Amino acid sequence: MENRSMPLRPLISEQQIHARIAEMGARIDADYPAGDLYLIGILKGACFFLADLARAIHREVFIDFMGISSYGMNTRSSGEVKITRDLDISLEGRHVLIVEDIVDSGVTLHYLTSVLQTRNPKSVRVAALLDKPERRIRPVDVAYVGFQIPDEFVVGYGLDYAERYRTLRDVCVLEPPY
Ligand code: IMP
Ligand code: MG
Repeated sequence: MENRSMPLRPLISEQQIHARIAEMGARIDADYPAGDLYLIGILKGACFFLADLARAIHREVFIDFMGISSYGMNTRSSGEVKITRDLDISLEGRHVLIVEDIVDSGVTLHYLTSVLQTRNPKSVRVAALLDKPERRIRPVDVAYVGFQIPDEFVVGYGLDYAERYRTLRDVCVLEPPY
């Protein structure tokens, strides 16, 4: 565990993360028919997860990234989400797996899965490293979940607080006051 003298409480270790991703990769490999699979990583939090998951799937996968900014539910009740960086590739006729760091309210993925469905893919599923089911306000079908966690704010392994802590190897709870 890195010592940055911050109020960080280790929740999921690097070893646990890698073991679980190996299982997820094997499961994904078994679930999809032979052929192309497109992994769509959501910037920036999912970048480490996508890198490890892609290599745990023992076939060739194609990767691309989307940037999303979600208007907080306090400022916008519609739950509207904005795409800040779109894909370079077409999804037409392709098996698409959205790769996300964490599903919280579900607003982001609820919106994103519906947007990607309009691009005529063969299928759209979601893989998320972490899931906070208690916080859900929009339904999201998450086909592959790494870990369900309680309603606490976590950082590390790509997840940030104000752009900090992404490079921590473990997932840690950031204890308030931040
Ligand atoms: P949702 O639309 O509320 O599901 O938001 C999901 C996004 O909020 C994630 O992709 C993260 O960027 C961010 N997020 C939610 N919970 C946490 C957390 O505990 N730590 C860091 N980021 C989080
Ligand atoms: Mg995110």
